Amino acid sequence: MLNTTRWPFPRVIAHRCGGTTAPENTLVALRLAATMGFGGVEFDVKLAKFGVPMLIHDDTVDRTTDGAGPVAAYDAAELRALDAGLWFGNEFAGERIPTFDAATALCHNLGLWANIEIKPDRDNAVETGRIVAGIAARLWHDDNPAPLLSSFSEAALAAARSAEPALPLALLVAEPPSDWIEGTRRLGCRALHCRQEYVTEQMVTAAHEAGLGILAYTVNDPQRAFALFGMGIDAIITDELGLVRPDQLAPMPGS
Ligand code: G3P
Ligand code: MG
Repeated sequence: MLNTTRWPFPRVIAHRCGGTTAPENTLVALRLAATMGFGGVEFDVKLAKFGVPMLIHDDTVDRTTDGAGPVAAYDAAELRALDAGLWFGNEFAGERIPTFDAATALCHNLGLWANIEIKPDRDNAVETGRIVAGIAARLWHDDNPAPLLSSFSEAALAAARSAEPALPLALLVAEPPSDWIEGTRRLGCRALHCRQEYVTEQMVTAAHEAGLGILAYTVNDPQRAFALFGMGIDAIITDELGLVRPDQLAPMPGS
């Protein structure tokens, strides 16, 4: 299941399922990403009440649904009763918050690979890492390459690694700390995912010399995408699915 080459994953990845083409972290967004030629998506996974993983970014439902309050205060059925599309546009009314299971099933139907971002609340990092990794290992066990689990939370990554040591992990950072290579290795991660503004050619070279992959997010300017691939970046995540396109921007190394 675990491919040992440095970056066996897609190189241009749609952010929050479908970037800004559709309401984030929804099934309609997954469909649009596939329709627009994307082979890989990133999405955010949090736990509903009783530990059911769902696709949602924020700690509360306020911004992306017609509900209010913490995600963790709702069970999965209550979250599914909320409208997760209307905030984005009338044509998306009735869209629901997907369970991780449903999103996985649709990814498989559409042939989409996933970067699964583990997004714990402040107080449930270990539980979120363990549950998301366990379900990912079960639902994606036939996939090659395996999905890549990433997180800003070191505790979530450590729990994921302990639960499912064979799943590939990536450390997510905004501005990388000076010891990012040691930190990435210490957590057993195979890649660093870094905010694109902070990525330099020196960082890309250092990551590769250390045997690590390096991904930049969120790259919405095609010129910046070309520049990053020119530096040798392994992959980028984008919101601009019509501008930053896999068919134009993912030359293979040496080509
Ligand atoms: O994984 C890259 C990116 O999704 C991290 O930031 O806040 O969009 O989840 P955020
Ligand atoms: Mg994310």
